[in-house]
Amino acid sequence: METIIVHCGAGTLRDMGGRKAAVIDSVEAGYAVLERGGSALDAAIQATIILEDSPYSNAGRGSGLNLEGEVEMDASIMTDDLRCGAVACIKNIRNPIIVARYVMEETDHVILAGKGAQRFAKILGIKRYNPITARSKELYNKFLKKVKQGKGTQYFPHLPDYIKHYNADTVGAIAMDCKGRIAVTNSTAGIMLKLPGRVGDTPVFGAGLFADRAGGVSATGHGEGIIRLCLSKVAVDSMKTNTAQQSVSYAIRKAKKHKIRCGLIAIDRRGRIGSAHTVDAMPTAYITKGTLTYKE
Ligand code: GLY
Repeated sequence: METIIVHCGAGTLRDMGGRKAAVIDSVEAGYAVLERGGSALDAAIQATIILEDSPYSNAGRGSGLNLEGEVEMDASIMTDDLRCGAVACIKNIRNPIIVARYVMEETDHVILAGKGAQRFAKILGIKRYNPITARSKELYNKFLKKVKQGKGTQYFPHLPDYIKHYNADTVGAIAMDCKGRIAVTNSTAGIMLKLPGRVGDTPVFGAGLFADRAGGVSATGHGEGIIRLCLSKVAVDSMKTNTAQQSVSYAIRKAKKHKIRCGLIAIDRRGRIGSAHTVDAMPTAYITKGTLTYKE
């Protein structure tokens, strides 16, 4: 029954080699946890840490910068017994998913944001880390130059018009363990050049992710659109009577009607995999019955 699926964001064809390597490393690391008898929660977290550490994902190290040139990250976790935890707009940390797990396991809350999330990470003894890389700075300067040339304003009000040029490389993982339990994780720095303080779908339960006994879903792409449709909950509700693939296809048809650039991955209660997107590519890897498959 051990099954795992991960993705490295829905968006353009940029950096496909690096993103492919990241999802394969991630899915293998998560599956190794499941093979040792580990929990779906530990497997999804381990897979997400590998994706956050890849400079080719827009999560953790190498994350995209906001309009003011800073990295603000969101991450979340949910298990099929409705336990959940998330951080939003957290800065100066390497692996936001670890803090999201602590929010779920150690606090009475579901989401901690901004300075409160950073303070919580400090209390936990998590070291400060600057996630900006030379490559993320270079991309930021390139896109900021376009905005300054008149393709947007200081506050970038027409982001939906421009989003097709950017990757929204949120990462996500879903694992099912030998007991049939499901855990879903998400991590992102949001969409490059977002306004400081903006929170996307990634830490919003029902939108960026959802899990219950019917299955688990992780979403990626244009956060504002995904939130409006509560896209992950739509797909999980469908899994009460349909397969994972039928359910993500149904949710993606809805997203297409609203012209939302996004993607979904899923595992249903019988361990079946689903993935679909509305964009050029969504590097995805999964292992089911011991066999690894890579998809774009
Ligand atoms: N899906 C990532 C975001 O919009 O923040």
